[in-house]
Amino acid sequence: MPPEVVFLNGGFVPYDQAVVPVEDRGFLFADAIYEVIRCYGGRFFRLDDHLERLEQSAAALEIPLPYDRARWTQVLEELIRRNGVRDGSVYVQVSRGVAPRAHAWPDGLQPTVVAIARPGGTPPAEAVRRGVKAITVPDNRWGLCWVKTTGLLPNVLAKQRAARAGAYEALFVRDGLLTEGTSSNVFVVREGVLYTHPLANILPGVTRMVVLEVAREAGIPVREQAIPVQWLERASEVILSGTNSEVLAVVEVDGRPVGDGRPGPVFARLREGYLARVAAETGAAVDVGA
Ligand code: PDD
Repeated sequence: MPPEVVFLNGGFVPYDQAVVPVEDRGFLFADAIYEVIRCYGGRFFRLDDHLERLEQSAAALEIPLPYDRARWTQVLEELIRRNGVRDGSVYVQVSRGVAPRAHAWPDGLQPTVVAIARPGGTPPAEAVRRGVKAITVPDNRWGLCWVKTTGLLPNVLAKQRAARAGAYEALFVRDGLLTEGTSSNVFVVREGVLYTHPLANILPGVTRMVVLEVAREAGIPVREQAIPVQWLERASEVILSGTNSEVLAVVEVDGRPVGDGRPGPVFARLREGYLARVAAETGAAVDVGA
């Protein structure tokens, strides 16, 4: 079922009437940024962190954002209300705007703003209980991976490879180091220590930040340092974080089991801590014991 209304350039428009001109630079050049923000029980989770990252991405690409945080909040809250979405997510995209096709952009463009709300989207209970498979792929993305740009072709191709291999996620490997997933951040547990790539040319995941908070609070030793891909062979756990994935255990990478091939104890604590924060911050009744 498509959403009832989407937000487009300042107004709420029926889904099938919400169209963008063919010379929108988002369409022509992927000259656009985006966010995916989850809501639980009708309340956004970490909205302010997502809006802060949107501002950083916009500043990096020199796209002037048309709204301040208060206005974004109002718009997105109204969007989920109008669509009756309580547990779901909102996709927000801001492109540089519409102009005759030329690589350099003219002054004075009006950014195109689109926001779409959909229910659902959390991992199936089966994936949470049993864990998921992943594959590794070369990280051939561009040099500004921290910008949440819609230039996602390498991510799209890698995720397609994962899907064809029967895996949930593809994990990027750059210069022999495990960086992140195509739409998630990645953690490795080795000898009781939780490792994740530092915030150096990866997407600074909002969920990654939550996982690190939970780990520190739980007394799990954390190191934000580069992870050689060979560590996967001796890792006791591999864990994904992301707005869509929430917190998920990877139990197989490139056909080899991770640890004993089942979701491990660090995953269980991190997922529980994540859901506890969701419950505390949104007031939603979440099922912690999935
Ligand atoms: N992607 N790394 C990449 C490359 C991502 O695209 C994402 C999220 C993450 C996790 O970030 P967060 O925890 O803030 O969602 C890490 C979104 C969900 C997507 O493209 O659908």
